[in-house]
Amino acid sequence: MSHTYDFVVAANRLPVDRVTGEEGNEGWRRSPGGLVTAMDAVMRGRDGAWVGWAGDPGEAPAPFDDAGMQLHPVPLSEQEIADYYEGHSNDTLWPVYHDVIITPTFKRSWRGAYRAVNKRFAQACADIAAEGATVWVHDYQLQLVPQMLRELRPDLRIGWFNHIPFPAVELFAQLPGREEILEGLLGADFLGFQRTEDAGNFLRAVRQYLDLDVTGDVVDLGERQVRAAAVPISIDVEGLREIVESDSVQARAREIREQLGNPEKILLGVDRLDYTKGIRHRLKAFGELLADERLDPSKHKLIQVATPSRERVKAYMDLRDQIELTVGRINGDFSSIGATALTYLHRSFDREEMAAMFAAADIMLVTPLRDGMNLVAKEYVTCCADDGALVLSEFAGAATELSDAYLCNPHDIAGLKQQIMKAVDAPAPQRRQRMDSMRSLVSENSVQQWAKNYLASLAAAPKAPSTQAAS
Ligand code: ADP
Ligand code: F6P
Repeated sequence: MSHTYDFVVAANRLPVDRVTGEEGNEGWRRSPGGLVTAMDAVMRGRDGAWVGWAGDPGEAPAPFDDAGMQLHPVPLSEQEIADYYEGHSNDTLWPVYHDVIITPTFKRSWRGAYRAVNKRFAQACADIAAEGATVWVHDYQLQLVPQMLRELRPDLRIGWFNHIPFPAVELFAQLPGREEILEGLLGADFLGFQRTEDAGNFLRAVRQYLDLDVTGDVVDLGERQVRAAAVPISIDVEGLREIVESDSVQARAREIREQLGNPEKILLGVDRLDYTKGIRHRLKAFGELLADERLDPSKHKLIQVATPSRERVKAYMDLRDQIELTVGRINGDFSSIGATALTYLHRSFDREEMAAMFAAADIMLVTPLRDGMNLVAKEYVTCCADDGALVLSEFAGAATELSDAYLCNPHDIAGLKQQIMKAVDAPAPQRRQRMDSMRSLVSENSVQQWAKNYLASLAAAPKAPSTQAAS
């Protein structure tokens, strides 16, 4: 072991992915998703290591430094990517944890791979954590790590945070291996969730399937206790503000409006291309509003950014086809030469370009069918003009805090259309007032504050009786 750390983060992905160019040249690119956005901001300027997968198959690169962060890559073989990542994580757990929007696939061999990869992550953390260190494990891909790590290193303080929802017991019940997951999680000293409802779902599942005593938000394991509570995640408010307030980003925001032909209203959607995000529902509502002539394609323009995600999982391939068909239909019906009704962008952008889009947009459409938090909603609130408007699904974790948004049920297309029109037609003072209150709320709980709160709860967890490292 070359180095030990007092603070270790473990997440399925590292903050950067290794990419190989057409000529075989290797490089690194920022990984997609909210977890990386959040934890990257938390880890910068803090001593510690990040254990995760480098995003490609085969041998892992040697540990390296990325802007002061120590990255410790964990290898995954082609087969493990198929079984642990695309299979059990994203074709079993992901749909079960998101209200079974699509039918989950259950495969025994995938569970074996999930177990093996979790073991590898636990070992990687055990190898680099200093005596008594804090290890913070993240998300649904690594639910067995807390218990596996405790067995290897009982001296560690172990936390876990779930970036996605935790399902109602009736849905969790479907999972083969549900007891194993609960036992895996209970290896932690503190379990963090996005919403109180998620923590409640977990505690109910523990009561039902492990027959353990639960008092309030504490599970009694006899030799130790584990608390499960909500610690809602946020964004790097200051960092993002600095970006969006720069002259170049403000100029780019004006340029985006000009390039769209200076429309009356720019509507914007920004999501990973995922069936949980309600992109199809949003496009349907937009298309119908154009057809009803309540929106005018020359005055109201929609930009939809759909970031490539999990492209080898069938449900994601199907969704991409459906979305692109709908985009084509809407543009075929409503665009004119040189003036597209809907601009569809299927790629990643840097933070400056994202901030410029948020600053340019008059109305942000965040319409997931289920979402742990949805950082995009908070990013928009931080970047938009004072009279920007947010249409937000009740099924996003963010709706708990951002109740001044134009809240919608995306399953109800008529209701969604109504809320979009409400945002379009709202008088500027009303939009300003709503945005002002949401902005204060977001700035009071930055991602740095979230990490502080989480780590304080973890530190306050009762000490385990054994603090001896296993030999
Ligand atoms: P999820 O974690 O499910 O992807 P979130 O909304 O919580 O959803 O987080 C998504 C993050 O990814 C946000 O920080 C958002 O700005 C960023 N993002 C989304 N699409 C793109 C894109 N095309 N290019 C760059 N960043 C993106
Ligand atoms: O929080 C949801 C999540 O799965 C994160 O783990 C990840 O940051 C993001 O979505 C992107 O997913 P993936 O890592 O599968 O590309």
